Amino acid sequence: ELISKGNHRHYMLKEIYEQPIVVAQTLRAYLQRMEEKVTLPIPEFDLSAIKRVTIVACGTSYYAGMVAKYWFEQFARVPVDIDVASEFRYRAPVMEDGGLMIVISQSGETADTLAALRHARSEGQTIAAVVNVPTSTMAREADLLLPTHAGPEIGVASTKAFSCQLAVLAALAANLAKAKGKLDEAEERRIVRHLAEAPASLNAALAYDESIQTMAGVIAAARDVLYLGRGTDYPLALEGALKLKEISYIHAEGYAAGEMKHGPIALIDDAVPVIVIAPSGPLFDKTVSNMQEVQARGGKVVLISDYDGIQAAGDGCIATITMPKVHPLIAPLVYAVPVQLLAYHVAVAKGTDVDQPRNLAKSVTVE
Ligand code: G6P
Repeated sequence: ELISKGNHRHYMLKEIYEQPIVVAQTLRAYLQRMEEKVTLPIPEFDLSAIKRVTIVACGTSYYAGMVAKYWFEQFARVPVDIDVASEFRYRAPVMEDGGLMIVISQSGETADTLAALRHARSEGQTIAAVVNVPTSTMAREADLLLPTHAGPEIGVASTKAFSCQLAVLAALAANLAKAKGKLDEAEERRIVRHLAEAPASLNAALAYDESIQTMAGVIAAARDVLYLGRGTDYPLALEGALKLKEISYIHAEGYAAGEMKHGPIALIDDAVPVIVIAPSGPLFDKTVSNMQEVQARGGKVVLISDYDGIQAAGDGCIATITMPKVHPLIAPLVYAVPVQLLAYHVAVAKGTDVDQPRNLAKSVTVE
């Protein structure tokens, strides 16, 4: 029953829709709701001596890691290195005592990520593994197993595993901050409350599915698409572009909004839709000014923001996607929904094999 498509046409759509439930399920293992405290599956695991974090993963899991880097540095003030697993070993990474290596993997079997784990282990690092398959090799080899409770993910393009990874990583960042004495009780309570709101906000985001489907035609007609974001929305822009590439075969690039003027701006014309991810918040105005640079050059912009953001900057966009207004901590989880749905509907419009895209594998067990 768990791996039927239910009423959905594809596994991917079913998995997108499961996110409120599986994120809630995942958070239950990391939050004590009554006490308003964060916790780990091994509550006594001591993170206080961690001096540095290295995050290694591939594909969508890597983008979850990129979001987490912001959180670890912001909350715990611990420096974070991050690499794609296939590059990690080959740059002779410097790993000192007191380092925590975090591998992130839906399958727990990706060959490059597993090799990175073993390399870090041989360099004396403590290993934490954020994995969705509790019986996987990475789960077995880690010192600290941090399961995502997303349930089996069948669609090759990862969706619900990503949002569950983000939930675990946010809770881990808070746990690390607490262990390092960087999080007082009031802040801990606030973090727990914000995270606990994520499932309801994910539901609210899913309610915009129809309007996303309606505008998917614009993107389906494009040959190239650009995704822009700033801060934690930058990894989401990368994830949005990856999703489009994977299942609709449209060439897409994700870019840090402020970096656009150093290259991609040369591509702007009315044939390249630019999708801007900009929830209202401290970085909103900066991203909007990058968006206006695109519009001034005749670029067609799709703005994904909340009601306030769209009121402030939606004029002149060819389409807007409204998201619920959420705290910046959970924005990456919530804004994952429209980028997933958009890729899904574009792929359906193009008639591709959504669940089994050409040339891609669910789990890559060769280097
Ligand atoms: C493949 C899948 C992606 C996934 C990546 C990493 O490329 O198609 O969806 O993000 O592997 O997989 P992992 O199991 O390590 O998260």
